[in-house]
Amino acid sequence: MTKRVVLAYSGGLDTSVAIRWMIEEWGVEVVGLLVDVGQDVESSESLGDIRSRALAAGAIDCVIVDARREMADEFCAKAIFANARYEGKYPLVSALSRPVIVRHLVDQARKFDAGAVAHGCTGKGNDQVRFEVGTHAIAPDLEVLAPARNWGMTRADSVDYATKWSIPIKATKEKIYSIDENLWGRAIECGAIEDPWAAPPEDPYTLTRVTNREPVELTIHFEGGLPIALDGVAMPLADLVGALTVRAGATGFGRLDMVENRRVGIKSREVYECPAALALIAAHGDLEDLVLERDVQHEKGRLESRWSELVYDGMWFSPLKEALDAFIEETQRHVTGDVRLRFEAPGLLRVVGRRSPRALYDYGLATYDAADTFRHADSEGFVKIYGLGVKTWAARQGAKNSTPPTS
Ligand code: ARG
Repeated sequence: MTKRVVLAYSGGLDTSVAIRWMIEEWGVEVVGLLVDVGQDVESSESLGDIRSRALAAGAIDCVIVDARREMADEFCAKAIFANARYEGKYPLVSALSRPVIVRHLVDQARKFDAGAVAHGCTGKGNDQVRFEVGTHAIAPDLEVLAPARNWGMTRADSVDYATKWSIPIKATKEKIYSIDENLWGRAIECGAIEDPWAAPPEDPYTLTRVTNREPVELTIHFEGGLPIALDGVAMPLADLVGALTVRAGATGFGRLDMVENRRVGIKSREVYECPAALALIAAHGDLEDLVLERDVQHEKGRLESRWSELVYDGMWFSPLKEALDAFIEETQRHVTGDVRLRFEAPGLLRVVGRRSPRALYDYGLATYDAADTFRHADSEGFVKIYGLGVKTWAARQGAKNSTPPTS
């Protein structure tokens, strides 16, 4: 029997060519799977057009799944709880969508009775790691195929291949950038960006072009760590992220320019635009400053970077990541309240206010005015004992350095 494969299909050149190439070279049947994680399927192109392209390339079927809510409610939500930023900067845009896609690949592989799934990644990136490790973590019996790692075609070869097989692609032989996007933001690579000394070009940005020079003030309401309302209007997280992307992005907020360490040992210069992700994490972290007990907050800070590394490295479905989720979830019980954000073009965000019914901030303890309730005298003994060890050490140092007594 012919082997059946479910391919993570984007509608672009590489995955369209991958369908025909796998059929020709490996003699398999291919089912295309397009998972909508909030990527901007170009308005000129309907999901129907994308489906027809997969079929024209030879797929026996092409399934389209709307996973926007799932991506927001399970994946972005956990990233917010974890204030997740890889290497302190990148909010894991692509890294968060891969496990969503993996889950649906496995689902469809079961439905179509397929023995393998496939992706269109090359051998140089993180996404191959995420697809393969992720699939094996939830479906160890499935094989994962990576045609683009095997075919040795340049972009121009792929365009010729598509033409030869009458696959209706829109791509041309020159492509400047490689872009991956979802509702958490956009990741942009290649072209002039590959020179880390060159300032990032303006043209690949779409979400963060300044169209509003007026300051914008927004209030985000959080319940148990989850953003649930924007300016008093309750909405699902996917919609809140969408609305925030537009409002914050219009002031130019949300760009990142960084050199990052890929899992495969390559340093790469990447630019991102992720206005909603960066704004929500800033707001969430600020609210935590107000409500988390000090030791919990400090320990959480240490674990956040580990969480982000694990997710970046393709370990979404792993025992350590899940154990960290349990810790992080426990810390979110009191993260309820409002955060006021102020955006000023071009690209500045300040948190200008926060409040919470669970605040550990106590005006009486904090104030220097007449309402002060703090018992200053109590500090005297505390400070003496706190510093006692260092004081004793210093005295011994002094004794050692002084001239020994002569007899
Ligand atoms: N460097 C980022 C990451 O590893 C972005 C990857 C973007 N992927 C792409 N196929 N262009 O998460």
